[in-house]
Amino acid sequence: MRRRVGKQQHRLFSPIKHVQTPFIRCSSPSHPLQPSTKYTAVTHPEDSASLLPTLVRQIARLESCTANTYARPPLIFTSGRGSHLYTSHPSREYLDFSAGIAVNALGHNDTGFIAVMADQVGSLAHASNVYWNEWVGELASLLVGLTIREGGLGFAPKPEYEFYAPLPAPAPTGAKAFISNSGTEANEGALKFVRKYGKELWARRTGRPWEESTKTRFLCFEHAFHGRSMGALSATPNPKYQKPFTPLVPGFDVGTLNDMSAVELITEDHCGVIVEPIQGEGGIFECNVEWLEAIRKRCDEVGAVLIYDEIQCGLYRTGTLWAHSHYPISAHPDIVTMAKALGNGYPIGGILVKDHIAEAVTIGSHGTTFGGNVLAARLAHYVLTRLSAPSFLEHLSLVTDALSARLSPLPGYFPALVSSVRGRGAIRGLGFHTPEDAGKLVKMARERGVLFLTAGKDAVRFVPSLNVAVKEVEHAMDVLESCLVVMSGEKT
Ligand SMILES: Cc1ncc(COP(=O)(O)O)c(C=O)c1O
Repeated sequence: MRRRVGKQQHRLFSPIKHVQTPFIRCSSPSHPLQPSTKYTAVTHPEDSASLLPTLVRQIARLESCTANTYARPPLIFTSGRGSHLYTSHPSREYLDFSAGIAVNALGHNDTGFIAVMADQVGSLAHASNVYWNEWVGELASLLVGLTIREGGLGFAPKPEYEFYAPLPAPAPTGAKAFISNSGTEANEGALKFVRKYGKELWARRTGRPWEESTKTRFLCFEHAFHGRSMGALSATPNPKYQKPFTPLVPGFDVGTLNDMSAVELITEDHCGVIVEPIQGEGGIFECNVEWLEAIRKRCDEVGAVLIYDEIQCGLYRTGTLWAHSHYPISAHPDIVTMAKALGNGYPIGGILVKDHIAEAVTIGSHGTTFGGNVLAARLAHYVLTRLSAPSFLEHLSLVTDALSARLSPLPGYFPALVSSVRGRGAIRGLGFHTPEDAGKLVKMARERGVLFLTAGKDAVRFVPSLNVAVKEVEHAMDVLESCLVVMSGEKT
């Protein structure tokens, strides 16, 4: 039996003797007039005096043989269940409100997911893309069918659309999927598809050989995050990530999100524009629909392909298949990239491309050893089937309503600390006036048994599992508020 760690267990470690609550009272229909102070005390200490010697030795051993690319807290998770993660040394439970960075949409160790994995591994895990497999086509057909039903990629929503018919019925058409191993690879592939399509379009329009094409430029945006391979990194204009690795891939221009003057940066030389409808890593900044419509219109004028990177915000995190599903089709992209939630922790990514662009993707123009192997494809098919079920989405809507109700009053409760509440659905950010406060709050919450993430320069990010319980949302928000109360006390 797993030992649950009571919240009183580590009270002794709390540095807080007396907590002042200098917040402003404000009312919210679904929440009491005051923020929670239930979790002001530290329960999961991380200071060196409280670390077990076995854990210290284990971390030292890991550090001595792994590349030093991550600043990690002294935690080693050994198991998980639902929205909880567990460490063994010491035995502790954490509420995971980060879902492996927006990955574990079904939570940890979901029994159905485990059963499907065991079943597939028991028959065939991998036989390479040299041959067809039974599941990659089913996954592609589900992605296209759901996109037609829910809207996206130029399809207006068709709620009555039925597409689950088995063979000999044909698969839904209008778009094609390429399955990769990760989000970065999905974007890398999308950039390649677009360059090739752009060159061929230029050749058709000018009557000259595609090799001479100047239609090779991309537009990306400030605060974007598209990955760390050379192409995806070139579309990620953050000096911290880019500078040590110059020279980057040439041909990337940078615009400002939601700034209409960015539209004018798109010229006949542009083959593509890449944007996250809701920026994740960059700080949870959402694009205005009118701005996306203007970008879409300009792309059509010059023959540039519009890519939406929905790796973090897509796959039901906003309540619909794509974050753009409910936008007017005048704000839809030609390509959408995905990853994260698609595999619920099994590495997989994907590119969904409208048919006319997919025509440029010919035999040999792209490939991967693992991408879309039978195990990954079957797991993703299972995950997507679960996420798209009406009962799952009803629950998700309760969860996101509860989250909104608790986040919305925070700038009013803590005006000296909190600047804004950003994002929508289950991809939310809390902006701070003092950027360092975001990282400080994440650490404080972890020391009280709840895992949040930072985003961009100034925000705490909330990307829980999509099947998180409402009472778990309430608990996470109680801890968040308690930390903010402590921080407010420290500032006065
Ligand atoms: C929007 C977005 N694009 C691309 C990536 C890169 O994905 P991956 O880490 O799976 O390569 C991420 C990862 O955080 C992301 O959030």
